[in-house]
Amino acid sequence: MKEARFGKVAIIGLGLIGSSFARALREKNLAAQITGSARSARTCALAEEVGVVDKAFADPADAVRDADLVFLAMPVQSTAAVLTAIKPALKSDAIITDGGSTKGNVVAAAREVFGQLPAGFVPGHPIAGSEQSGVLAGKADLFLRHKVILTPLPESSPDALSRVRALWQAIGADVLEMTPERHDEVLAKTSHLPHLLAFSLVDTLARESENLDIFRYAAGGFRDFTRIAASDPVMWHDIFLGTKQAVLSALQHFSDGVNELRAAIEKDDSEALLGVFTRAKAAREHFTHILAGTAYAKAQKPKDISFTVQPGGQLGGSLRVPGDKSISHRSIMLGSLAEGVTEVSGFLEGEDALATLQAFRDMGVVIEGPNNGGLKIHGVGLQGLKAPPGPIYCGNSGTSMRLLSGILAAQKFDSVLTGDASLSKRPMERVAGPLRRMGAEIQSTGEKGTPPLTIRGKALKGLHYEMPVASAQVKSAVLLAGLWADGETSVTEPAPTRDHTERMLRGFAYDVSVDGPKVALEGGGKLVATRIDVPADISSAAFFMVGASIAPGSDITLQHVGLNPTRVGVINILKAMGADISVLNPREVGGEPVADVRIRSAALKGIRIPEDQVPLAIDEFPALFIAAACAEGETVLTGAEELRVKESDRIQVMSDGLTTLGIEARPTPDGMVIKGGQLGSGRIASHGDHRIAMAFAMAALRSNGPVEITDCANVATSFPDFTGLARRAGLNISVTEKG
Ligand code: S3P
Repeated sequence: MKEARFGKVAIIGLGLIGSSFARALREKNLAAQITGSARSARTCALAEEVGVVDKAFADPADAVRDADLVFLAMPVQSTAAVLTAIKPALKSDAIITDGGSTKGNVVAAAREVFGQLPAGFVPGHPIAGSEQSGVLAGKADLFLRHKVILTPLPESSPDALSRVRALWQAIGADVLEMTPERHDEVLAKTSHLPHLLAFSLVDTLARESENLDIFRYAAGGFRDFTRIAASDPVMWHDIFLGTKQAVLSALQHFSDGVNELRAAIEKDDSEALLGVFTRAKAAREHFTHILAGTAYAKAQKPKDISFTVQPGGQLGGSLRVPGDKSISHRSIMLGSLAEGVTEVSGFLEGEDALATLQAFRDMGVVIEGPNNGGLKIHGVGLQGLKAPPGPIYCGNSGTSMRLLSGILAAQKFDSVLTGDASLSKRPMERVAGPLRRMGAEIQSTGEKGTPPLTIRGKALKGLHYEMPVASAQVKSAVLLAGLWADGETSVTEPAPTRDHTERMLRGFAYDVSVDGPKVALEGGGKLVATRIDVPADISSAAFFMVGASIAPGSDITLQHVGLNPTRVGVINILKAMGADISVLNPREVGGEPVADVRIRSAALKGIRIPEDQVPLAIDEFPALFIAAACAEGETVLTGAEELRVKESDRIQVMSDGLTTLGIEARPTPDGMVIKGGQLGSGRIASHGDHRIAMAFAMAALRSNGPVEITDCANVATSFPDFTGLARRAGLNISVTEKG
């Protein structure tokens, strides 16, 4: 890294930004000498008196003489005048940077004064401030963990750029780079426009005759919204005139939005109002996360979360795990495409299902919630989706991407689907292939046919599809596309896979016929809104089933677990291994079988897992491998090559983890051979796979030392508050968050 320390630094303008910069340099010992310049003699005197600068001058030329770095921190409108004044006194190799909130006009002023820009000129803008101003308002930590945007020019020397960057970093700021034009466009929207609105609102109200009364009653909302109206008027005057075009275009955009809201209120259009408000609420909550970390950065950095689980213990009590992920996704999809309002309870508020929810909001569907698992979806009908404003981000969720592909293939607009690092490696041709045969135009990426997917909306025709892999996602994508297709669409599956799509379509009054392995529907019908109660997810319950089975003395009851026959493989397999599981109070809720499930610890024995159970337990193998590691004898899994293309290669990653804990676990192309034994302690890489992380957390119940699991942030995709619930059940688990 470049040397951050300078010899002499001159700061022109000793207001909030200039004096904070000086204080930060002093505190971190980043300058041998600091001079300053301010127009008012009183500011100069004060700055010297409180020790912000070594010496302050009324004439900026005096301040910059021999300076290695010049920092311009006066109002941006004075840039040309100040540069003209200091030009004759500048050292030839001086680095010049600034803290102005506008960049285009600062660059223009510099070009006017210098003609050929000096190589040491690197404009910048620290995104920090306060509504207070003046030399005494400055704070040494004003820039700490704040963004600084540098806007280097083609003339800027790489050396000057890296020295300015190193200096800001030494002060504790995060440095970003963009062009001056892009900077002005971004700031006009995110900073200048809100300031304009705050100034205007306060002024408008203050001019009303009864203003005193109004202000007396104005509480939190007014205060929050108008805090920035107390900012420096001269500075903001300069900013608005200095970024005229960018601000005018932001203002036009905003006025259009206000006009839409006005029209909605005039017409009592509650749908339009709720649409704007729910979208804004979701976006604001998303920003809260981003703002806490990295404003203006492209993507959020994934959190670095590890679990540490102390050995031993047992599981007990009665608990309800979160809602079923597969059913939650489908409730948003069918609810959005239905006519009328669908109410959902028990919705899984995990990141995967929330990605689907956001996708439909992006396509114009008004969705209220989620509030404690409750949602109200204002369906738009099969022809009512609108083009999303940009690519749809599916995060970690294969279900979102594959099922959405089927829906989007048939729309009148084009779309792009993207995902995180794990999803971007997963095969998408398995859905793109059959959809193309229906007339869809879908392009996947790379040799392996992975995301992003680019989809051109097309009129589709029905297809009779013999599915080569047992995949509910592929089946669902084809059936969903079939809703718009001409004629009949059918899928024949090689083995039974989860049938939530078929069940839920019927729940929305859509005709679906099932004949053995073949499911068929006719395009061109309509979905009628309904009510959906999402049962607890058997895939999340599975961790507790295994945990209670392997930990001596356990006795736990899991409430309201979805026991769809296409999902109960985990119970069948555990029972075959000798587990003590009883199904209590079986009932049917909204077309899905549900029951409470009681698990008591039992001595497990190794088995050869029947291949017909594999699709029925496809997501539960990470947990089942832990059961196998605690069983007596050998467990053999075959026919499960699909595990290699899940959120991680679950055969390899699980066998690596078990080996780390001292268990003999031999991976095969389509499964694993595991010899039960004593689990040791160790550090397991979950590879960002939620189910691997949760499975190894349960392993600690039978290990002889602590188990640490890294890269666990994605547990939030399917099981928010896993650690809280696991702790209440008796697991001694703690969480470490780094970065
Ligand atoms: C799912 C189907 C399964 C499963 C996934 C959810 C669904 O995937 O692993 O977690 O909701 O349809 P495949 O269809 O790839 O087997």
